[in-house]
Amino acid sequence: MAIRELRCWELLTPLVTAWILIHAGAAFAADADPIFDYCVADSTQSSIFFNGLPCKDPSTVTAADFTSTAFRAPGNTSNPLGIAIAVAAAGPGLPGLNTQSLTLVRFEYAKDGGFVPLHIHPRASELITVTKGAVQVGFIDSSNKFFSTTLYKGDSFLFPRGLIHYQLSVSSSPAKSYSSLNSQNPGIVLLPPNLFGSTPSIPDIVLEKSFSLSKDEVDRIKASFGAS
Ligand SMILES: *[C@@H]1O[C@H](CO)[C@@H](O)[C@H](O)[C@H]1NC(C)=O
Repeated sequence: MAIRELRCWELLTPLVTAWILIHAGAAFAADADPIFDYCVADSTQSSIFFNGLPCKDPSTVTAADFTSTAFRAPGNTSNPLGIAIAVAAAGPGLPGLNTQSLTLVRFEYAKDGGFVPLHIHPRASELITVTKGAVQVGFIDSSNKFFSTTLYKGDSFLFPRGLIHYQLSVSSSPAKSYSSLNSQNPGIVLLPPNLFGSTPSIPDIVLEKSFSLSKDEVDRIKASFGAS
């Protein structure tokens, strides 16, 4: 069995290398560069689909299009994860961000354990800055090396693009951080509901074998994410 598995991986290696070489050019690019000063999103034209949002007539653009008030009001961290998230993103929230390859996110954490579970942003790196309290952060690279530290007010940390990461408040008072992400549509894949709460469900046997879990354990975790 062990020998057969080894042969499988040996066969895979050249294929993986070829895939990396083919895709390496694309992997260095973030969102496409804008070709105008700005392309302020016109959210009323919802029937047009392309890479970004349609632009307003530049003569109708005002300072309000480059302004967000998303972070004025405090969020509510009275929820099971103890977290409140507010976003300034291209679209109605901050139309001027369209095509600028940026998204800004505010995280508020309940004291003692406000938590952003393990997740991935498929299209962006994330630079986080703590502005209140203390937040433990961590990510795992593609060689399974784990990087983690605790950030205090004024500290920043980078989650490289596409890698699994988390944020956990470790202060006895509420904490806060801001993150900038270098895509107007970073995407978020929250691993626990992605794997155990998908629609339709991933077959039990796949999760049992992937995580060395019993069928009962898989069913219990799936049930906690509302899957059958
Ligand atoms: C925060 O959310 C909780 C739970 O939904 C709710 O009971 C509470 O009234 C909310 N607090 C505020 C200030 O909105």
